[in-house]
Amino acid sequence: MADGPDLTTDLYLGGAWTGGGAGTFTTLNPATGEALAEVAAASTGDVGTAVVAATGALRGEWAATSPSCKGELLNRLADLVERDAEALAAIESLDMGGLAGLGRTMFVPNLVGSLRYYAGWADKINGETIRNDGYLGRPAFAYTTREPVGVIAAIIPWNSPLMILGWKLAPALACGNTVIIKPAEDASLSVLHFAKLVEEAGFPAGVVQVLPGIGGVTGAALAGHPGVHKVSFTGSTAVGRDILRASADTFKRTALELGGKSPQIVFDDADLDGAIAGVAMGIFVNSGQTCAAGSRILVHRAVYSAVLDGLRDAAEAQVVGDPRDPATTMGPLVNAAQRDRVLGYVTKGIGDGAELVAGGDAIGERGFFVRPTVFAGTNDMRIAREEIFGPVGTVVPFDSGDEAIALANDSDYGLAATVWTRDLARAHHVSAELRTGAIGVNGWSPLAAQLPWGGVKASGVGRELGYEGILANTETKTVTVIL
Ligand code: NAI
Ligand code: MG
Repeated sequence: MADGPDLTTDLYLGGAWTGGGAGTFTTLNPATGEALAEVAAASTGDVGTAVVAATGALRGEWAATSPSCKGELLNRLADLVERDAEALAAIESLDMGGLAGLGRTMFVPNLVGSLRYYAGWADKINGETIRNDGYLGRPAFAYTTREPVGVIAAIIPWNSPLMILGWKLAPALACGNTVIIKPAEDASLSVLHFAKLVEEAGFPAGVVQVLPGIGGVTGAALAGHPGVHKVSFTGSTAVGRDILRASADTFKRTALELGGKSPQIVFDDADLDGAIAGVAMGIFVNSGQTCAAGSRILVHRAVYSAVLDGLRDAAEAQVVGDPRDPATTMGPLVNAAQRDRVLGYVTKGIGDGAELVAGGDAIGERGFFVRPTVFAGTNDMRIAREEIFGPVGTVVPFDSGDEAIALANDSDYGLAATVWTRDLARAHHVSAELRTGAIGVNGWSPLAAQLPWGGVKASGVGRELGYEGILANTETKTVTVIL
């Protein structure tokens, strides 16, 4: 990578840069399939060292840092992220294969938005005074305070590391917690560059640490460590279950943002051009590797063939290739396993009797590219029930609003949904009936620091962002003074 950006590959541990106790692991460039860098792997011992540093900072220098100073530090960090936006987007694109342009226009600005939003919160996290019935016949004055949860482990996935770390880190820091970030094996490098900015911003040592490593070692050590008070995880449903179990012994707080099989419902009164473009974005953006991917496309029968044709055209119009090229609209999948998993679902779709309308195959010999894929199918097929995490949409017809709601809710998952209609009363009615954490009406998956985000059912536990992010990162303490 002689002409590429500088890559940071060490652990950021206790305010210093160091090799990993578990050696190194290789991360690839998904566009070429070639090795990109050797990254330090944190051992269980490194996790122990990080928890000591995080605990020291929590009780020491970070506790002594005023709320307004915490806000200033978050804003300074946001300034540095803006300064290095180009490099951050380029590094993340190299490491996980997403479009560099998407990094510049969405992931990095979203991170900046989270940092600035919670910078504003840092000096506004208040308790309440509580009117009460008194105590054993005596009056009492009662109030609450919101205290930091403590040491928080943020275990993040590879599909948009900078954006997702912002959702976890920014509210946690505003509330006075310390954070140990464990990035994913496939995409640690943008997070490590971010750690350099944390250092430059001047956060006290131990407030933010970044420990790349193997999930079953570094991640599991964090989830099991008695000194970690909360695990905030985004990733697969299977690992979410492991983390919940590992957290049980020490009664950790957990926040789990897991997979999805999110419906996009297109009614017959929708602006069809807008709906088709939005539905296509919801399934092809980031090569379908988004937790909110709108992979179940439920379409009123009156517009079914128009939408199916439109989605086929949209799939065939995608320019799949080098994620650094501004003309590219879809990059590779993150690794060979993910590509093979997606191709496996194509085989399952055909096996279950779905009609392949577009795509369905790998592209080229180099890198992990899959052609944008559209199926016409039914809601009981595996391609409509299981998270694929690739550019594969399944289109299912419906005949009535009630049927659309029933189909949408007939899923193990409940993260997001999109409703395409011009009828506002219908939009509110359907939104009220859907069992899901977030809904976009006439727009796929609105995401911003102000908007709470998270799922129900197998899509997870807890909410991030907005005021919910403050609640999730504080413990309420009640003080009752008997007068
Ligand atoms: P994963 O859930 O294994 O990885 C996510 C993070 O958890 C990584 O940092 C990983 O190192 C860590 N981890 C792995 N095992 C762990 C353990 N036992 N304890 C603690 N941490 C652990 O996701 P993976 O394997 O990269 O992707 C597999 C599938 O998961 C995808 O095909 C997709 O379906 C789903 N996924 C969903 C995401 C979402 O945003 N909802 C994000 C990433 C993956
Ligand atoms: Mg990589």
